[in-house]
Amino acid sequence: MGIQLNTEFYNLIGQSEGILQVFDLVERAADSDSTVILSGESGTGKELIARALHHNSRRQSKGFVPVNCGAIPSELLESELFGHEKGAFTGAMQARIGRMELADNGTLFLDEIGDMPLTLQVKLLRVLAEGEIDRVGGNKPIKINVRFITATHCNLEEAIAAGKFREDLFYRLNVIPIVIPPLRERKSDIPLLVSHYLKHFNTLKGKSITGISDAAMEILCNYQWPGNIRELANFMERMVVLSTDPLLTPRDLPDKVMSNVPKETWEPLVQAETNETPAEYIRKTRGHAHYIGMPEEGINLKQMVEEFEKELIIEALEKTNGVKNQAATLLGLNRTTLVEKLKKMKIHRP
Ligand SMILES: Nc1ncnc2c1ncn2[C@@H]1O[C@H](COP(=O)(O)OP(=O)(O)OP(=O)(O)O)[C@@H](O)[C@H]1O
Ligand SMILES: [Mg+2]
Repeated sequence: MGIQLNTEFYNLIGQSEGILQVFDLVERAADSDSTVILSGESGTGKELIARALHHNSRRQSKGFVPVNCGAIPSELLESELFGHEKGAFTGAMQARIGRMELADNGTLFLDEIGDMPLTLQVKLLRVLAEGEIDRVGGNKPIKINVRFITATHCNLEEAIAAGKFREDLFYRLNVIPIVIPPLRERKSDIPLLVSHYLKHFNTLKGKSITGISDAAMEILCNYQWPGNIRELANFMERMVVLSTDPLLTPRDLPDKVMSNVPKETWEPLVQAETNETPAEYIRKTRGHAHYIGMPEEGINLKQMVEEFEKELIIEALEKTNGVKNQAATLLGLNRTTLVEKLKKMKIHRP
């Protein structure tokens, strides 16, 4: 893959144009000590890339200190970052070192920087400009030598326009921007990631799934992946754990995937691979879905009911060799109602 990164611990996977550009930037920026700002949707690998930057820099033997600015209540964030002196506020029985000092000579990873309150943004600006921090309640500045990496899933330029983010801070942070594209824009990485996680979870869970069928892979490549690589990893874990067959097929794919990939994409694939009619396929799959109960991520009732309806209509047509009069009788419908439904559901010939 032409990337000379030290990725032993940070198995960065990808071969798409989009991710190779990211790897290239990582390689060039890692040891520069310059401030990097990572942006990308949830689960695209921002933290992994931040760690790769640190581990490919000469700071690698020092600390990599992550702070999620969105997860720490804003009233606590200042002392978390800057530390405090004894008696700085009620309850401060002892002096405490903050994460900035912990990251001295190493890397501080400020995740969800867009959530940092404006008051702290001013203080961060000062650290970046002067390389000094003030502990809460302290009266002498402390010199620190920290490399800053920040990440955001929101658009900071919009936050600036809305008055929620300081423009001057943005320019300080935005020295080397790295944008990680969402997985749906780098489809050629999907098969690599699937086989990586298949191996990974086989080992972890003591299973021996041998592979995934072409149809199932094609469906995964057509899914939109709103949760990106984290979502893919979760689905792979679920499939490896639940599958009783050595080969993963569309039947093993989560409902969420099947119901969000257009039917026109997968119906012909399934039929070619399983030799089952859509009705048989849906019937067996539904039995399976029944067996595992209501999936964690819930269902789309309207869609499920429509699918059930479609399944019964296709079954009736199959039973009657496509004779609509007879199929309508089996379904207790008027012929015209059935014909309307067929048109609406785009059922042509079973
Ligand atoms: N290129 C990649 N190769 C292999 N694994 C990856 C890659 N990118 C991300 N991952 C894995 O995907 C998961 C999510 O990555 P990470 O936590 O870095 O994403 P994130 O962008 O920080 O997400 P969030 O915005 O939700 O915090 C992790 O388990 C990570 O190891
Ligand atoms: Mg993250």
